[in-house]
Amino acid sequence: MALHPLSALVTQLTTQPILFIGGKGGVGKTTTAAALASYYASQQQKTLIVSTDPAHSLGDVLKTRLNNEKTAVTPYLDAIELNPDTIVDAHFAQVERTIKSYANPDMMPKIREHLRLSKSAPGAQEAAMLESMCQHLVAAADGNYKHIIFDTAPTGHTLRLLVLPEMMGAWTDGLLAQQRRQSKLRSVATNLDRHNQKNDVKKDATRSETDNPFAPKKSDRWEQAVSVLEKRKQLFRQAGALLHDREQTAIVLVMTADVLPLAETGRAIEQLEESKLMPAAIVINQLISQDQSDDFWRHRATRQQQLMQDIEQDFINYPLYPMYLQQTDVRGTEALGALLAPVI
Ligand SMILES: Nc1ncnc2c1ncn2[C@@H]1O[C@H](COP(=O)(O)OP(=O)(O)OP(=O)(O)O)[C@@H](O)[C@H]1O
Ligand SMILES: [Mg+2]
Repeated sequence: MALHPLSALVTQLTTQPILFIGGKGGVGKTTTAAALASYYASQQQKTLIVSTDPAHSLGDVLKTRLNNEKTAVTPYLDAIELNPDTIVDAHFAQVERTIKSYANPDMMPKIREHLRLSKSAPGAQEAAMLESMCQHLVAAADGNYKHIIFDTAPTGHTLRLLVLPEMMGAWTDGLLAQQRRQSKLRSVATNLDRHNQKNDVKKDATRSETDNPFAPKKSDRWEQAVSVLEKRKQLFRQAGALLHDREQTAIVLVMTADVLPLAETGRAIEQLEESKLMPAAIVINQLISQDQSDDFWRHRATRQQQLMQDIEQDFINYPLYPMYLQQTDVRGTEALGALLAPVI
């Protein structure tokens, strides 16, 4: 597919309310996400931008202090910057509350220690970020935003985040199936127990449940645990469905006209296609215009043009949108929005 003017990107993406902006580190994901968000907001279209990138550059680019809660950047633009530490703390506090509701109280100190250590385990932040991202995705899709834009972390992380809802759904399914089997076995065991008690009335059936008359019954506790898992599964299923719905969601990959981003974007597309996700568009950022008087810059511009031929060939199925290198970093909603405004 051919090159399009950058302003056509906003037109192409107007029908899909949810946008994911992905790509290699430092290629301009945050700039592109913030530019799209600022442009839509400048057109008085209510927009939410959510950053899942732990590097926190969205606030810097929008020149606004952001946090885990919505902050109004302009009357039409709200922004959230998910802080992994805060999210992991909240996530593990929730896990602890859930476990507490069905675990033996004597076990709690050990469980607490285990949870404390788990916070820094590999993948813990990702899992917590994923759940939070899915919550925002599902909530925002039900809300009154015309556009919801996710500024994501570099490619590998984003891909895992996009594929995780499926994996987590399957994992939760496995847990639920196991719990169902156990609860079936338990009910058989309880019936046998009752049967034995009837036959031997003297036998004193002391159970831990009866120690504390206020403790929820074991069956209730299992139900609570199952309901938490069911809710989480439902969340991942909804998020996964939204991600795969091409009328709702568009994935935009950002790259620069360099050899490494070209290779990484190719791999990212393969991985996305394996998960039945397809990018809707590719932004080629930091292009240098050819009318350079300086040798160094002219050489770079020529090199980029050579690579553009490979890019057009490799990504023939995708619309490509060139974005030119600006003299300085683009910051603030006005300058960002202007990047995508049609040239008159
Ligand atoms: N077209 C452009 N013209 C000028 N500067 C740009 C352009 N695009 C990006 N930059 C600058 O390049 C740097 C990296 O851009 P940005 O933060 O958007 O990349 P990113 O892909 O989000 O990075 P990260 O992977 O670290 O999140 C920033 O300083 C940004 O201002
Ligand atoms: Mg970024």
